[in-house]
Amino acid sequence: MASESGKLWGGRFVGTVDPIMEKFNSSITYDRHLWEADVQGSKAYSRGLEKAGLLTKAGLDQILHGLDKVAEEWARGTFKLNPNDEDIHTANERRLKELIGETAGKLHTGRSRNDQVVTDLRLWMRQNCSMLSALLCELIRTMVDRAEAERDVLFPGYTHLQRAQPIRWSHWILSHAVALTRDSERLLEVRKRINVLPLGSGAIAGNPLGVDRELLRAELDFGAITLNSMDATSERDFVAEFLFWASLCMTHLSRMAEDLILYGTKEFSFVQLSDAYSTGSSLMPQKKNPDSLELIRSKAGRVFGRCAGLLMTLKGLPSTYNKDLQEDKEAVFEVSDTMSAVLQVATGVISTLQIHRENMGRALSPDMLATDLAYYLVRKGMPFRQAHEASGKAVFMVEQYEALGGTARSSVDWQIGQLRALLRAQQTESPPHASPK
Ligand code: ARG
Repeated sequence: MASESGKLWGGRFVGTVDPIMEKFNSSITYDRHLWEADVQGSKAYSRGLEKAGLLTKAGLDQILHGLDKVAEEWARGTFKLNPNDEDIHTANERRLKELIGETAGKLHTGRSRNDQVVTDLRLWMRQNCSMLSALLCELIRTMVDRAEAERDVLFPGYTHLQRAQPIRWSHWILSHAVALTRDSERLLEVRKRINVLPLGSGAIAGNPLGVDRELLRAELDFGAITLNSMDATSERDFVAEFLFWASLCMTHLSRMAEDLILYGTKEFSFVQLSDAYSTGSSLMPQKKNPDSLELIRSKAGRVFGRCAGLLMTLKGLPSTYNKDLQEDKEAVFEVSDTMSAVLQVATGVISTLQIHRENMGRALSPDMLATDLAYYLVRKGMPFRQAHEASGKAVFMVEQYEALGGTARSSVDWQIGQLRALLRAQQTESPPHASPK
């Protein structure tokens, strides 16, 4: 029953809520992103109610039709929020009631916003992960293509930021691409754990009306159903895992950005960022700043913060749903937006970057070839100590690193082949998720 103020959660509140509290409590400004997932979840739930005999076929059709209208309004941008719409769930249900009347009240039978919100979030994240996965694969593919095209360029590899050994430029690109393939694999694994249905858990104790959760699972195309209603409504492991996935991926992208920022300085002059991804200085016309890369590096901090923040929120919560959990969504939305932008900008940077081959070659100074020459002499039978001393002159020895994973051309080709096979395999593992009915 709606209270005097029109609130869906009942009439036990007397007087008015402090407006500042109203605003504080409301999540509609951001959880409106869940509108489509909320409609999908409600359609599946109403089918479950019909099967359980709690809704007639006519009632079901009315609700499904009404929900389609609600979705249409959101899609067209004509959905009008009203001041009492606390969150997306109350907003959609309020509108459904305006559209189809009292039957709308049946939709929430045996359901709680506690199982509803976590179902919506999982639906949203499942789709979003597929999108991020495609963007990440696109970046890796761009890097592998570049590595293949520039296989014969050599430049110094660094340890401790000191020139260490000559390597192929492609070997450097692939070193970062390989890290990103772990992220790509990890995202698919996280997605599997996102893809579990909590609906039918109710507020805490489960569903008392015999709703067939297997039917709900099939309707929404989830891979499995949650095992325990108390756990299902309150755990946000899948959110924490997603935020950690993003944090690690950002660590990799930030390190790659840092390398490129250095390689782009006058001091190194190995690479030049395209104008499309840099800005000029208003004061010093000779300067071109690598803003894209600096922003990639800085966004890592924001993402780590969201991950740490969520863990703080979860730590110490008493059992099952507490309003603290409302905080999960802003973290997910912000991190998803950030990842989407970062991955696209990184792809743009890598595909348009220019390299200065001559400067790279010139930087292969004789001293850094000493180790390679020493290994060569060792293979010819000279004791290492002696060989090390004998190697005073620069010799081009990159090709000796033929063991798998090394910087020899054959090994770089092998890496390219491995990464391409991995991308193919991941693509078949994660086809874009079909929209549930
Ligand atoms: N807006 C809430 C959230 O995001 C929905 C769940 C509210 N549940 C409740 N028992 N108050 O978490």
